[in-house]
Order: sequence, then structure tokens, then C-alpha cells
Amino acid sequence: MEKLLCSFFFCFLLLSFKAQSQEVEDERAFDYESDGIKGPTHWGELRPEWHACKAGLMQSPIDMLHERVEVISHLGDLKINYKPSNATLKNRGHDMMMKWIEGGGFMEVNGMQYKLKQCHWHSPSEHTIDGKKFDLEAHLVHESSNGMVSVIGILYQIGEPDYFLSTIKDHLEVVSDSHEEERIIGVIDPTLIKIGSKRYYRYMGSLTVPPCTESVMWTMIHEVRTVTEEQVKLLRVAVHDDSDTNARPLQPIYDRKTQLQRPKESEV
Ligand SMILES: *[C@@H]1O[C@H](CO)[C@@H](O)[C@H](O)[C@H]1NC(C)=O
Repeated sequence: MEKLLCSFFFCFLLLSFKAQSQEVEDERAFDYESDGIKGPTHWGELRPEWHACKAGLMQSPIDMLHERVEVISHLGDLKINYKPSNATLKNRGHDMMMKWIEGGGFMEVNGMQYKLKQCHWHSPSEHTIDGKKFDLEAHLVHESSNGMVSVIGILYQIGEPDYFLSTIKDHLEVVSDSHEEERIIGVIDPTLIKIGSKRYYRYMGSLTVPPCTESVMWTMIHEVRTVTEEQVKLLRVAVHDDSDTNARPLQPIYDRKTQLQRPKESEV
């Protein structure tokens, strides 16, 4: 399909684009209106390079259903080595994105390091556990030196404030009031994002926004954390679209495997 649509040179550009974790940053290019022409069911038709959104066989998000999750213990605790680094905050229209300019440290899987590039939030959550949706989901997007993408997802329900979001409240307010596109906000410490490292789901999926690039390694943290309604609202009013959601609907699982890593009984 893509081969027919483009010359050799253009294909080369297209493929190098696809290899990166670049999510689309043009805020009007797509939206979350379920009955609109730019809504999630049409993303795959809007641009040839977004074809995977419609035709992909390993799309995200998915439901993590208890009965079909394979419980394992050999993956071990998550290996995360984040560090405080200079960051920018950008209003992408459909979400707020914090980007670490030089990377905010890394996570390591099977001896491969994936640098922390950016985080952003979806409300309500995109992934579900046994069909249950949560109030917020944070995505920490990492990329290895050879272009492989690895995302950590954290689920939140309404309750006590989330500490990390409290520390960036002023920045979120400024960016939401000023209608500024992108703002340098100085050093942000990603170690303040609380991530339970012992129990997590692992499966292969995709980016949850166009171009829906596949072969993304997903790590969904098992522990559901808390956030206040004000914090969820702040992340939502900041963005300038009319939708009251920026959560992509659940995608077919096909024959994919979902694993749940948890320590052996003796290590709990
Ligand atoms: C952040 O940027 C400032 C200004 O460019 C620089 O002086 C400082 O060393 C940087 N800090 C970190 C942790 O990278």
C-alpha cells in the first residue's frame, strides 16, 4: 500500500519518520469525537502514514482481563534510572506533554536502555483492568538508540492528590492560561513520578495516538494510584479541544499475550 503511494525517496522519509516515537503534534489533525470525521474510528483513513490505526493487528489500548493474563515472575522488578533534567511543557491541543530535552534518564529491559523522552496524560484511562476504566492514565514514553519505543502506563483513580502533579501545578496553569505552545520549565525530576516496580503487565502494542506506530513495548503498572478531581481537570482544561475525553477506545487483542509480572511468594 505505502509502496504504491510514494516514490522511493518519499518512502525513505516515511520509514525514517515511522521509526521514531514522534507522536503527531498538530492539534487539529485528529480528535476524539466518536461520531466525528476525525474521530478514532477514522484515524487510519485520514493520512496514508496513519494506516496502522485501522489495519494494525497489535494496537493499544487493550483490556487486561484477569482470565487471559499469564502470571510470571522471571522478568523481575522494573529497572528504572531516572534523573532530574531540563524539560518543556507543550499543549498539543489533545493533551499536555512534558518533554525532557536531553532525556530524563532511562529504563532498562533485557539489557537494552530506553531513554525517557516525554510524558503525557489521558483522561479517563485508555487501558482497563477487567473492563474497569480509571480516571487518569499517565504515559511515560521511552526510546532506545535504535528507535524501539517502550511506554510505562500508570493508572489513577480519584482520591488523594498525586505528588508529582502537585509539583507542576503552576506550570500547567501558566501554559493553560497563556495559550503558549511550548514553554521551557526548567529542571523537572521524573523520580517524583511514583511507579510501583514489582507488579506490572507487559504486552506488545502501539502508540495510542496517530500514527499508531506498532512494536511498542507496554508496561502497565498494576498498582492503581490516586489523583484529585482538580488535578484531572487541570490537565483537561489546559487543552483546547472540545472533547471531554482524550482516551482512545479499546482495540482488538487478536492473538496477543499479556503477562503479569509479580515477585515469587518468597520475595513478596
Ligand atoms: C538546565 O539548563 C540550564 C540552562 O541552560 C543549565 O545551566 C543547567 O545546567 C541545566 N540543568 C540540568 C540538570 O541539565
